[in-house]
Amino acid sequence: MKRAVKIMAVSVLFGTTAMYAASTAACAGCHGADFGKAALGKSKIVKDMSKEEIVAALKGYKDGTYGGAMKGMMAGQVKALSDADIEAIAAEIKK
Ligand code: HEC
Repeated sequence: MKRAVKIMAVSVLFGTTAMYAASTAACAGCHGADFGKAALGKSKIVKDMSKEEIVAALKGYKDGTYGGAMKGMMAGQVKALSDADIEAIAAEIKK
């Protein structure tokens, strides 16, 4: 949590989208600051998923092979992320 706040502050300071894209700050609105909420009451509790499951889910949203009724919403979140960004995000969630 402390680290998430720091990342947010850094993104605000420099106004960089690159930094923001690979941070989890963009996800907090729906998933909660520590990924402990079911996004919009629909998603799994992401912090209870394994790192491998998170990576597989995010890559799957990107290529359209994963997801439920609201997968379109996540596809929009991950389309600009590289595989390396996805790995970094999963590592950040499971730190
Ligand atoms: C606008 C709200 C919103 C934002 C922002 C958002 N998500 Fe989601 N997320 C959802 C919803 C809704 C689902 C369930 C989608 C579905 O039906 O498959 C979901 C699903 C997921 C899942 C899979 C969980 C499952 O149920 O299988 C992961 C992992 C995830 N999100 C991570 C992220 C990450 C990482 C970010 C930031 C880069 C993010 N989300 C941003 C709403 C959001």
